[in-house]
Amino acid sequence: MMPLFAFAAASREQAANRLAELREQLNYHAYRYYVLDDPLIADVEYDRLFQELLHLEERYPELITPDSPSQRVGGAPLAEFAQVTREIPMLSLENAFGDQDLRDFEERLHRFLHTKEPITYVAEPKLDGLAVELIYEEGLLVLGATRGDGVTGEEITANLKTIATVPLRLRPPAKGTLPARLAVRGEAYLSLAGFKELNAQRAQNDEALFANPRNAAAGSLRQLDPKVTAQRPLAFFAYGVDDPAPLPCRTQHELLQYLATCGFATNPHTKRCPDLDAVIAHFHHLATIRHDLPYEIDGMVVKVDDFSVQKRLGTKARSPRWAIAAKFPASQATTRLIGVEFGVGRTGAITPVAILDPVEVGGVMVGRATLHNEDEVRRKDLRLGDTVLVQRAGDVIPEVVKPVSEQRRGNETPIRMPTTCPECGHPLVRPAAEAVTRCVNPACPAQRLRSLIHFASKAGMDIEGLGKKVMEQLVQEGLVRDIPDIFRLTAAELAPLDGWGEKSAAKAMAAIGARKETTLAKLLAAIGIRHVGEVTAQLLEEHFGTLTALLHATEADFLEVAGIGPQVAASLADFFSDPAARQMLATLQELGLTVAAPPTSRAGRLNGTLFLFTGTLAHFSRSEAKARVKALGGQVASAMSSKVTHLVCGDKPGSKLAKAQAQGTTILSEAEFEELVGS
Ligand code: IVH
Repeated sequence: MMPLFAFAAASREQAANRLAELREQLNYHAYRYYVLDDPLIADVEYDRLFQELLHLEERYPELITPDSPSQRVGGAPLAEFAQVTREIPMLSLENAFGDQDLRDFEERLHRFLHTKEPITYVAEPKLDGLAVELIYEEGLLVLGATRGDGVTGEEITANLKTIATVPLRLRPPAKGTLPARLAVRGEAYLSLAGFKELNAQRAQNDEALFANPRNAAAGSLRQLDPKVTAQRPLAFFAYGVDDPAPLPCRTQHELLQYLATCGFATNPHTKRCPDLDAVIAHFHHLATIRHDLPYEIDGMVVKVDDFSVQKRLGTKARSPRWAIAAKFPASQATTRLIGVEFGVGRTGAITPVAILDPVEVGGVMVGRATLHNEDEVRRKDLRLGDTVLVQRAGDVIPEVVKPVSEQRRGNETPIRMPTTCPECGHPLVRPAAEAVTRCVNPACPAQRLRSLIHFASKAGMDIEGLGKKVMEQLVQEGLVRDIPDIFRLTAAELAPLDGWGEKSAAKAMAAIGARKETTLAKLLAAIGIRHVGEVTAQLLEEHFGTLTALLHATEADFLEVAGIGPQVAASLADFFSDPAARQMLATLQELGLTVAAPPTSRAGRLNGTLFLFTGTLAHFSRSEAKARVKALGGQVASAMSSKVTHLVCGDKPGSKLAKAQAQGTTILSEAEFEELVGS
């Protein structure tokens, strides 16, 4: 291995060799981590290799290859997707609902094959994601596309490259050699955890929630900006190829093994079944474990194992004869829509909520379901009194899918959206570009309560013990009307309240006191500026540093912050030009709230310097020390020259020290270096 610090002087050829080595190591370790879930090295070691790769690629951009792990971060945004036409279409599957449909399936196979012999099958979980195809040429991923209508799909290569379980280069298979071209098909999906995290983030940023992981996966992959896709925790399971004929595989289960050795993740709950009874048994098994899986499955795909038998069976217009999708009974139910309530969110968004005749859906009683927004109500043409289809997807809030129009009796009545706020009576507005109707009354009690709850919540100031219930009580009791009131509370006011006592009052006071010293990012995320969540708040803190600077900023200034677009900038300008908001911030400061100065921005502090290290450092690894210098804008040299501006001396400095002294280079001890770059 070439030493880390030698690259500044390394030749292009050495860099190319080292990069090839790094690519291979990094891709291998990513495979161990993401596909096998069995990492060989620590995360920090991986990061170190990755940093080394990035630095080398930065220096020699012409050496960046399409299979470099750096290419997973997402490239330039697209204006539109290109179309991809395939010769061997991606087919769909016929559905089987229950055991009898599966027996009928086998009977059709027997008839077609003129045999009664048992057939060997492979039964695979049917993931609910997005079918995609990945084309590899000479082992290199060259194209990725959605299924589309089967023949024509959309080219989403850059987006698919961001998925950690999509190999950028194939590993040599255990059997045979890599074919010149390989078209792998499979399902791109979002885990339930990833889905929840994504929706939580969106809720915080006041963005529309995804109804289920499938929609979230599809939405994430059909992003024109791959950088957005890269932020989404997508994964991929391979389940087939366009044509197995050229491969050294005679059966589906051999193919899955082959794909696994090439570096793909294949589903571990796949089972080879010697007969249909085994298939049915596995179907029931999957139905019992489906809710324990980290991703959503909506059934099981049954495939005839033997490719020669598949070939004899052939395909129909849209689906193969040799496979079928056994679907689980859906977590859906029908019931009556008896009313609609309108909720008011923290930003004034009006959300219609369906009141239902309580019904069991997937084992849970459901009496309320979200209708998302006005457009959804219109689009679905829902009416009061309708029989409606209700569903639960994953752990998501139940939703109304559609009315069962065939069951209309004529006495159903249209749903009227309110024109005034259901909580405060203020006229509602609906900005032309938005799907959301809002109450814009800053004094609206419902909005106030929600924003107070948000302020104290984990996503806001994280005041322990001041959860939703407590906040409702404090508002009810008239103790808290606005955010500053929280800091005016006293133990004497709290202790006599229902369910409180001296102890809990003292505890709450301590929790509030502990948050008086806060950071700009926390405060910004807590005060409920529309479209400003934790991430944006952090960007603002990094850019502006102090509250005073923010209070002087204009819309144009906000637009200058990397990562902030026109919508957010407008919302910020609106907020900070509102005298009531400015007054609130001033009051908070009068009440003792202090915004800790963020670490002074140090980026660029070492611009124009060239550092050289000699001897052994006690408190830094070389790579860490180097990273610090680079982070502050400095460069690192590998050998002494007249260009070196700073020599950092560890233990046993060697000959470089004498040279540096001779040419008047600044010489730093490790302690001095530490002070310079911060610990
Ligand atoms: S095989 C010719 N295997 O189900 C075979 N499909 O209608 C066609 N799906 O959206 C596909 N898991 O993406 C196959 N293990 C699996 C699958 C699977 C999910 C999806 C597929 C497509 C739909 C088929």
